[in-house]
Amino acid sequence: MGLLHIPGKKMNPRAAPYILLVISAVQGFRYSELEQHVNSKQEEYVEALREWVAIESDSSNVLKRPDLHHMMEKAAQKLRLMGGMVELVDIGQQELPDGQTLALPKVVTAQFGSDPNKRTVCIYGHVDVQPAKMDDGWATDPYNLTDINGNLYGRGASDNKAPVLAWIHAVEAYQALHMELPVNVKFIIEGMEETGSNGLEDMIVAQRDIFFSDVDYIIISDCGWLSRRPALTYGTRGNCYFFAEIEGPKQDLHSGVYGGTVIEPMTDLIGILDTLIDPNGKILIPGIREAVAPLSDEEWKMYQDIQFDLENYKNKIGVDQLMYNSKVDLLAHMWRYPTVSIHGIQGAFSDHGTKTVIPAKVVAKFSIRQVPNMDPAVVKKQVTDYLHLVFSKRKSPNKLKVTMVIGAKPWLADTQDPVFEAGKAAIKRVFNVDPDLIREGATIPIARTFQDVTGKSIIMMPIGGFDDGLHSQNEKMSRYNYIEGTKYFIAYLHEVSLIKKTSV
Ligand SMILES: *[C@@H]1O[C@H](CO)[C@@H](O)[C@H](O)[C@H]1NC(C)=O
Ligand SMILES: [Zn+2]
Repeated sequence: MGLLHIPGKKMNPRAAPYILLVISAVQGFRYSELEQHVNSKQEEYVEALREWVAIESDSSNVLKRPDLHHMMEKAAQKLRLMGGMVELVDIGQQELPDGQTLALPKVVTAQFGSDPNKRTVCIYGHVDVQPAKMDDGWATDPYNLTDINGNLYGRGASDNKAPVLAWIHAVEAYQALHMELPVNVKFIIEGMEETGSNGLEDMIVAQRDIFFSDVDYIIISDCGWLSRRPALTYGTRGNCYFFAEIEGPKQDLHSGVYGGTVIEPMTDLIGILDTLIDPNGKILIPGIREAVAPLSDEEWKMYQDIQFDLENYKNKIGVDQLMYNSKVDLLAHMWRYPTVSIHGIQGAFSDHGTKTVIPAKVVAKFSIRQVPNMDPAVVKKQVTDYLHLVFSKRKSPNKLKVTMVIGAKPWLADTQDPVFEAGKAAIKRVFNVDPDLIREGATIPIARTFQDVTGKSIIMMPIGGFDDGLHSQNEKMSRYNYIEGTKYFIAYLHEVSLIKKTSV
């Protein structure tokens, strides 16, 4: 190490500790040491994931609530042992359909560093999981992490336990090598994501001027890449979920005895459902298509460069034909156009065999994915008015009731934001490629909540593979994505620290 020259100033020997600090700050990013550290820790990281996957933290099953509490405690303990300022925040009770209440899993918050001269990032993640049983068709025990050819199979491996651990290990790596964290790092880890993040929004609102006050950027790593090429995610669709109920006779009827004399609720329901979307995917509800932000030339061009294999996609879902034949059309309709999906009909006969019933009351469940510039409140009115109009033309004596039970807005970030530049630089360093900039067709409501409540920049930095099987049988996380993803997060903490404090 050479001598440090400060022009025009004589060196004061008593300033040595200060100068040393300056030297280490200007010395540059010792990435290769961190990278080697991660390589040497690979088995420990896999062990940590094994321990987390072994906890059946299924938030949808009330019988598993003790496991979920245990999971939150375990995450908190790991962060505490690293010297973080950790809190388990009580977010109250959950009301069950039978009227009973159940304690919600506490939200874990943690903080590493509070230097006002540094940027502060806040990492959001969840450690609850979807249900899984061997009977569902898993090849291995979903709660016993199993390594097959470098893929780590287990429920929650990709969604979202490995990404949360990768962030924790990223912080740990700096600590282990006695390197100062380039930014202050906060964590917010919840345990109800898979069932709608019950209680989290209130907590974020309550913490807006406390926990979030000094946060510059919020990072979410709860989704996946689109192909083998790393990706940054800058948008998600929202979702409006509807119930359309048609009620007719006071009880179910025999179709032999009454068929032909009554106006059947199911026929009415199928009739109006068929007016929502045409066979070519065109939404027929007035006003919906008009609200969609037009696809810009820039966006169209960007989609062309994205790595996405149509044949692979068809094989994965087992179909010969898709709604669109070109990559750009397909990506656009996956991410930035709305669609209608009909999910089911409650009250309909759906068992095996034959039953000659006329159901007296049927409730259709359908949803409409939301994109900019749709507004759920407006969509609710458009759908309700339209279905009532269509139904009135049938001149049916039955009663129609339309309700919207979920109204989640879409989220869209500005990819020119410095947080995305930092993400691109980190990916370039670790993977030596430029990332795809992608959107997510599914809804991650928390992104929009963070944006609306805190006003901070949000970035999604997935490390999951495109074929991880989230919410499905045989969910996995590859060792490659897990370990390289940890390096990527390490690099990101450096890159994001370079964003000038004054650039607001
Ligand atoms: C997990 O699977 C391995 C390999 O099949 C087995 O040896 C081990 O006993 C299992 N562990 C648990 C906790 O079931
Ligand atoms: Zn998730």
